[in-house]
Amino acid sequence: MHGCRKKLKYFWMSLMTVFIIIVVVSRNPDQEKNSKSKVLYPSATFWKSLTPHQAFWNQQQQILDLHNNPILNRPNSTLSDGLPAWLNNTFVNESCEPDFRVMTQVKDFSSLPDRFKDFLLYMRCRSYPMIVDQPDICRDQPFLLLAIKSLTPHFDRRQAIRESWGQAGLIANKTVVTIFLLGNTTAVDNFPDLSHMIRFESFRHRDILQWDYRDSFFNLTMKELLFLEWFNTRCPGANFIFKGDDDVFVNTLQIIDFLNSLSPAKAQDLFVGDVITNAGPHRDKKVKYFIPNTMYEGPYPPYAGGGGYLYSGHLAKRIHSVTRQVALYPIDDVYTGMCLRKLGLAPEKHKAFRTFDIEEKFRNNPCAYKSLMLVHPRTPQDMIRIWAWLSNPDLNCQ
Ligand SMILES: *[C@@H]1O[C@H](CO)[C@@H](O)[C@H](O)[C@H]1NC(C)=O
Ligand SMILES: *[C@@H]1O[C@H](CO)[C@@H](O)[C@H](O)[C@H]1NC(C)=O
Ligand SMILES: *[C@@H]1O[C@H](CO)[C@@H](O)[C@H](O)[C@H]1NC(C)=O
Ligand SMILES: *[C@@H]1O[C@H](CO)[C@@H](O)[C@H](O)[C@H]1NC(C)=O
Ligand SMILES: *[C@@H]1O[C@H](CO)[C@@H](O)[C@H](O)[C@H]1NC(C)=O
Ligand SMILES: *[C@@H]1O[C@H](CO)[C@@H](O)[C@H](O)[C@H]1NC(C)=O
Repeated sequence: MHGCRKKLKYFWMSLMTVFIIIVVVSRNPDQEKNSKSKVLYPSATFWKSLTPHQAFWNQQQQILDLHNNPILNRPNSTLSDGLPAWLNNTFVNESCEPDFRVMTQVKDFSSLPDRFKDFLLYMRCRSYPMIVDQPDICRDQPFLLLAIKSLTPHFDRRQAIRESWGQAGLIANKTVVTIFLLGNTTAVDNFPDLSHMIRFESFRHRDILQWDYRDSFFNLTMKELLFLEWFNTRCPGANFIFKGDDDVFVNTLQIIDFLNSLSPAKAQDLFVGDVITNAGPHRDKKVKYFIPNTMYEGPYPPYAGGGGYLYSGHLAKRIHSVTRQVALYPIDDVYTGMCLRKLGLAPEKHKAFRTFDIEEKFRNNPCAYKSLMLVHPRTPQDMIRIWAWLSNPDLNCQ
């Protein structure tokens, strides 16, 4: 009993230290301006006790923040002893077994669409086994790694990318490596069994990465996590990464030009794309991106639309290291924005990324693509046609 009280006291003392540091830091500028003014003491308590957030994601994030708080979570800290029960839910369990507690923890669980139930049940899982790897694909230390999110049945999209903007090798005198990121398209989602065909494709082209998990829209964040993990172990020397969908046209030549033009400082923390700021969750149930109130509250951080963005290998490693501190979110590009925010960074908007396409009247004009880096959406045939335009040495766009 006595020991328990002592630990409780220790916890509150640690908490007070945090607040004192905050007060000192925030007072400093004032003191510098007017060093004679006295320190003002607040007349009443000025902090709020930590109350659980109403929305599930926000609550899980509070728990992670607490676990990653370097002051409260020191070695041998007795952190859990003084905590209210709701915060003592050691969410660091990354088990891939379904977590049935969410059925009661999320108020309206039973009335949510199935994709939310699936997401919530597996939200703590952060890894799935790899089925197909290309362990040596980065042996030449690519300048640019093209990582394309694809689905098993999209054979024609992948082939069009290989034959056009995603051809691997020496492009504009830079080493380009292309990989396709796949999960499993399973019978649960009524997909036909294409496992023999993907095995053949992988053997033929050696550019397929596949993991054993259900390849669904709400599991795209899983694809991001698995890719970052793979990158960190198999391709850490790549200078830059383009990550995007398999229904976009990418002007690889323009991207290489752009990357060549960057200063070393700019290149180091590069993250550019079609950035969306001041957005928040859609509350209309009919929208693909709908998120219920019970799941997430508050605005989204700035994020680059998942159609495609360009970033440095250096930053990819930093994002990878921070993912464990950010609760999984069902929308992958928002999740990446959350990780950047955790690092104190924000993606930068570049007008050459056109995830909402260009004006219709320019779509058949070869010169319209010359200075762009990404256009969405484009069919496999579009990709081959546009790439032929841009590769033609006689193309004259004055
Ligand atoms: C933590 O506890 C272990 C075992 O009681 C002890 O050996 C170690 O020195 C402690 N570490 C710190 C930083 O206090
Ligand atoms: C918190 O969790 C620890 C370990 O699971 C347990 O020993 C302790 O009793 C819990 N405390 C509260 C207040 O629930
Ligand atoms: C994590 O959760 C799984 C499944 O619910 C359970 O079997 C396992 O014991 C838990 N691990 C820890 C360390 O609590
Ligand atoms: C191509 O790159 C290599 C190594 O980076 C360099 O030595 C060579 O001069 C470059 N060639 C051209 C034509 O730019
Ligand atoms: C995923 O695909 C592999 C290889 O095609 C297969 O062996 C495995 O059973 C699949 N997993 C699921 C969950 O369907
Ligand atoms: C994600 O993949 C896991 C493993 O295959 C699966 O159990 C889960 O239902 C999937 N989640 C969603 C939202 O599809």
